[in-house]
Amino acid sequence: MTKLKLFSIAGFTSAMLAISAVAIAANGPHDKAIKARQAMFQSYSFNLGILGAMAKEDRPYDAAVATEAANNLSAAANFGQSQMWPQGSDNATEGNATNRALPVIWETFPAITEKAEALKTAVAALVPAAGESLDALQGVMGDVGASCKGCHDDYRAEKK
Ligand code: HEC
Repeated sequence: MTKLKLFSIAGFTSAMLAISAVAIAANGPHDKAIKARQAMFQSYSFNLGILGAMAKEDRPYDAAVATEAANNLSAAANFGQSQMWPQGSDNATEGNATNRALPVIWETFPAITEKAEALKTAVAALVPAAGESLDALQGVMGDVGASCKGCHDDYRAEKK
């Protein structure tokens, strides 16, 4: 009887350990930083999408809306990111929130900052062009898109 009781306590304890391991996996130490940088990228994407639709003439060109989107993208592209990329917050480390940040970011740091600078440069040209005319907007969109792709090609994992 006592033996059986002890056995079931051990079973219960290991079940609890298994539950807490799951809890850790769902709530990793870097998840807030991962979520914050992903929100930043979502903001890039939302604002670039508005500008892209105008550039492709899928929606009417509107200088005020284009200026707002370009200013938003500029603000997001100039976010300080020093706390958004803690060591171990890559896509290969167990226990992190789902993310696509390749470990090479940390292995070759600060190489990635060149890609972030390329985006800032492209967006600096976008801001005045966006409100100027459709022609001017169309003229700079390629560089902005290329700066996103330039970083993704080297530092972001493919979608699984
Ligand atoms: C300096 C490098 C870099 C630049 C520049 C960059 N990205 Fe990314 N992007 C990444 C990395 C790395 C990830 C993966 C981050 C993660 O999953 O934690 C990512 C993820 C994303 C995501 C997915 C976010 C999510 O919710 O998981 C989107 C959307 C995105 N980027 C859009 C853009 C757009 C649009 C631009 C250009 C305006 C851009 N990115 C510029 C590196 C970059």
